[in-house]
Amino acid sequence: MTSATPLKKDKLNQDNTMSDQDPRNTSPDADDQIISGHMYDGIEEYDNPMPPWWVWIFVLSVVWTPFYILGVHQFGWINTYEDDLAAKQAEIQELRAAAEAASPVQDIDDAFVASFFGNAEAEAAGAATFGAYCAACHGSAGEGLIGPNLTDDYWIYDDSPLSQFMIITNGILDKGMTPWESILTVDERAQLVAYVKTLRGTNPPNAKEPQGDLVEPDSETDDEAEGDGATAP
Ligand code: HEC
Repeated sequence: MTSATPLKKDKLNQDNTMSDQDPRNTSPDADDQIISGHMYDGIEEYDNPMPPWWVWIFVLSVVWTPFYILGVHQFGWINTYEDDLAAKQAEIQELRAAAEAASPVQDIDDAFVASFFGNAEAEAAGAATFGAYCAACHGSAGEGLIGPNLTDDYWIYDDSPLSQFMIITNGILDKGMTPWESILTVDERAQLVAYVKTLRGTNPPNAKEPQGDLVEPDSETDDEAEGDGATAP
């Protein structure tokens, strides 16, 4: 240990020949600096004041601290990350609710598809779509070609409105029925179901042999009553 009184560096250098050769010791006034007066393991410290910019940051940080603590924890002057997040989430919820109110999501169920039934406009639109997209496989009168006959009472799948809508939507790829979801709108697909319903019992020429199971027409079907008898095995 050195004495407690600060030493001039010149004085130290008399004992310490290394420091004159220290390449870091390039400051012009290094020789005027005061040694703080303590030494550990042969290492001494200059008694330099902290640079003013550092001191100011320190002082301002200390002054700011109580305001920050009170602002965050007591008075809510300062928004935390969680506050901002909650505010933005609420904003998103509002936008979402507004978007949903502007265009309500259509629930597609039997009732929705069936709401197109018996509507002459929908059936005519369905007929046009059928001619363009379905006739190649199901025949221009729905009598069946590659695809099954859609005019008889035999159905490979459920003949419910939603089931037919889903067959048109997703297709049955491994059997050769193509999906139409990306090509036809929801309404166009529902119109097709409505049109296919009108084909039932029309007995077109060159009808393809029945495929699937016999399904009695719905009670509300406006087919002739003889339909039941004609299709009995
Ligand atoms: C590339 C040929 C092809 C096209 C185009 C096609 N289908 Fe099909 N469709 C089929 C085949 C094949 C089946 C039978 C699938 C099976 O056996 O699983 C079928 C089945 C169906 C069924 C179910 C029939 C049943 O007996 O359950 C409906 C309904 C149907 N198609 C409607 C349509 C409509 C409407 C279109 C026009 C948007 C259409 N299909 C276009 C080939 C096609």
